[in-house]
Amino acid sequence: MRYQLIEVEPLTPTIGAVIHGADLTKTLDDETYSEIHDAWMEHQVLFFRNQPMTNERHLELGMRFGPLHIHPAAPFADDNPALMVVHTDKDSWRNNGSGWHSDVSADEEPPMASILHIREVPSQGGDTLFANMYAAYEALSEPMRKFLDPLAAIHTSDYTNFYGEHKPQRESPTATHPVVRTHPVTGRKLLYVNRGFTRQIKDLSRAESRALLDYLFEHAAQPRFHCRFQWEKDTVAMWDNRCTQHLAVWDYYPETRSGIRVTVKGDRPYH
Ligand code: SIN
Repeated sequence: MRYQLIEVEPLTPTIGAVIHGADLTKTLDDETYSEIHDAWMEHQVLFFRNQPMTNERHLELGMRFGPLHIHPAAPFADDNPALMVVHTDKDSWRNNGSGWHSDVSADEEPPMASILHIREVPSQGGDTLFANMYAAYEALSEPMRKFLDPLAAIHTSDYTNFYGEHKPQRESPTATHPVVRTHPVTGRKLLYVNRGFTRQIKDLSRAESRALLDYLFEHAAQPRFHCRFQWEKDTVAMWDNRCTQHLAVWDYYPETRSGIRVTVKGDRPYH
């Protein structure tokens, strides 16, 4: 059997798995960590139900995967900028992550992982969709893949007034990344553009870039590349931010959905 300590229940043939038998409220032993890491590489996003973690444990879990990433502008909990607050209620003017995006892809070194602990859920709704960007790349025709492979694109963010009164931690980043990147662990190629941050493909005219990006965003938005996850209180999701993108549905106004995200630093994407 591939997994001895955890049970892995795939959500779709393409992406996502619910993990049973792991207790994230306690320090993970090396063997369980290693099985979780294997399942994560296989399914890209993992879900753990019934995990009433403290913020301290959440930080510890994140650091197990690597040094923590600080969001450029989002509010945080416990005076610790590594504890990003994800919160929407009746007074919110927008929802965090409502459009397809890969977290902070405008950073020179975008996060490799995001670990979201949802602590309060609306009575219905508030699901998150995740897309497998290996599958999106592999579904393109060979001539299209060959055309895209050497290209690079500019990712830009603008968090001015995005988080209301909260003062940004640093300037909104911008970076140039390959349109097709190679995952540093699996060695697989994947499509690395997202509607949230990718603005322009280098060396193409504005019109060419716009048309191609719109096509690629629509391509990646096909449900065959996705899973859709329904949260319960104290569910933890961990997504590989290098090879996925996600969209949080805001369909629960005026109810509240609230959680904390710990994000893990990644490295510079390469072709
Ligand atoms: C995010 O983009 O980190 C938010 C995802 C979510 O709220 O489900």
